[in-house]
Amino acid sequence: MLIFEHQRISANGRLEIGGCDTAALAAEFGTPLYVMDETAIRNRMRAWHSAFNALYPTGIAYASKAFLTTAMVRIVEQEGLNLDVASGGELYTAVKAGFPADRLVFHGNNKSDDELEMGLRHNVGRLVIDNFHELERLNAFAGARGMKQGVLIRCTPGIDPHTHRLIRTGQEDTKFGFSIKSGDAAEAARRIEASPNLELTGIHCHLGSNLMDATSHLDAVDVMVAFLARLQRDINRTLSELDLGGGLGVRYLPDQRPVSVETFAGSVVPNLIETLDKHGAGRPRLGLEPGRSIVAEAGTTLYTIGAVKEVAIPSAPGKRIYVNIDGGMSDNPRPQLYEARYSAILANRANESPDTQVTIAGKHCETDILISNIDLPLPRPGDILAVQTTGAYNHSMASNYNRLARPAVVLVREGTADLIVRRETLEDIVARDIIPDRLRA
Ligand code: LLP
Repeated sequence: MLIFEHQRISANGRLEIGGCDTAALAAEFGTPLYVMDETAIRNRMRAWHSAFNALYPTGIAYASKAFLTTAMVRIVEQEGLNLDVASGGELYTAVKAGFPADRLVFHGNNKSDDELEMGLRHNVGRLVIDNFHELERLNAFAGARGMKQGVLIRCTPGIDPHTHRLIRTGQEDTKFGFSIKSGDAAEAARRIEASPNLELTGIHCHLGSNLMDATSHLDAVDVMVAFLARLQRDINRTLSELDLGGGLGVRYLPDQRPVSVETFAGSVVPNLIETLDKHGAGRPRLGLEPGRSIVAEAGTTLYTIGAVKEVAIPSAPGKRIYVNIDGGMSDNPRPQLYEARYSAILANRANESPDTQVTIAGKHCETDILISNIDLPLPRPGDILAVQTTGAYNHSMASNYNRLARPAVVLVREGTADLIVRRETLEDIVARDIIPDRLRA
């Protein structure tokens, strides 16, 4: 069983998050429901900021793709973090919620003209250039506005981190960034230097996601610092930023032990300082972009259990108990996409012994198994299932498959729950549909 530090089981056997009884939350707001613990989010942001800044000047940008709503933007803003946005939609959300544009880092491997113009219009602090096509257009658009835009080069360091193949990005064969090895990254720097409306401030890389330790980041320090040193000699000036992206993993299962943020900082920073000194590369400000590490464990999804079905199977133990929930791959596509595994508890019977092996199935017209073979007290229709570690890449990747309405999100803190995203309605589901006149007859 996986119970996080910010959660507890009350005397009457209910799972509590942020001082709120989860069964009561399910009754009040309906299910499926994403529950986000505000204190856990804030603590994690503070841990990142202080663990690194105690050792080295570091700008922490929360990677908004993990979980973004206007309320979340306010939390990031209040905590003093920067914000990584990777599309016009993420940028719009940030601006709409009053986030200072100079603290935005604008990413994306195929930013449209509109997105580039939007970045310029709002004066984003840093724009990370991914390719030559973008470099030329951005220079032209900035010129037309009489502006000089600060940019970083998205580099491919050629590092293959050990994580699921679909969330690896540091290796050579990737759609992201300029390869250091091929010379493209150096060529990008020369072209930026020659572009009157762009100002090169630093280099960036992102290796992959859900990494359990600092190994890949240590490799990245070697490659990126060596490149930075070469680049600074080439262009004959120092650059002020070295951004190593996000990627630190979290606990999805009770036996998973990702390193703590403090341990991570304790490995990366001394290595960084030593490598900078070795190459005489100065003291660029370090940038990091944690997403999952900040929000994943702070989020829990509540479902209502419906049909419980026992089927005979040929292998031992000869039967499988399917426990059907009122959501599935539309609110959490990660098991289908990445074979992701999750842990869960019965929120309203959390003190009963988990003596029955069951399989949790979604309600889509697919075999959308959310969790295979998990031990729970035998679930009954009407019980509330709490699936842990759903704060990252669940709400942000949700769909309307089978025309399911997407869940609400509540933010809990010290016993109060605030709705921060309302549940979609069936009206919302058809709101963008149009019947052409010729089909009306
Ligand atoms: N910075 C950049 C440039 C990124 O591309 C990403 C994630 C991050 C930061 C944040 O990485 P994190 O700290 O969250 O690992 N949908 C996948 C994860 C995709 C990550 C994409 N980029 C999943 O559900 O596992």
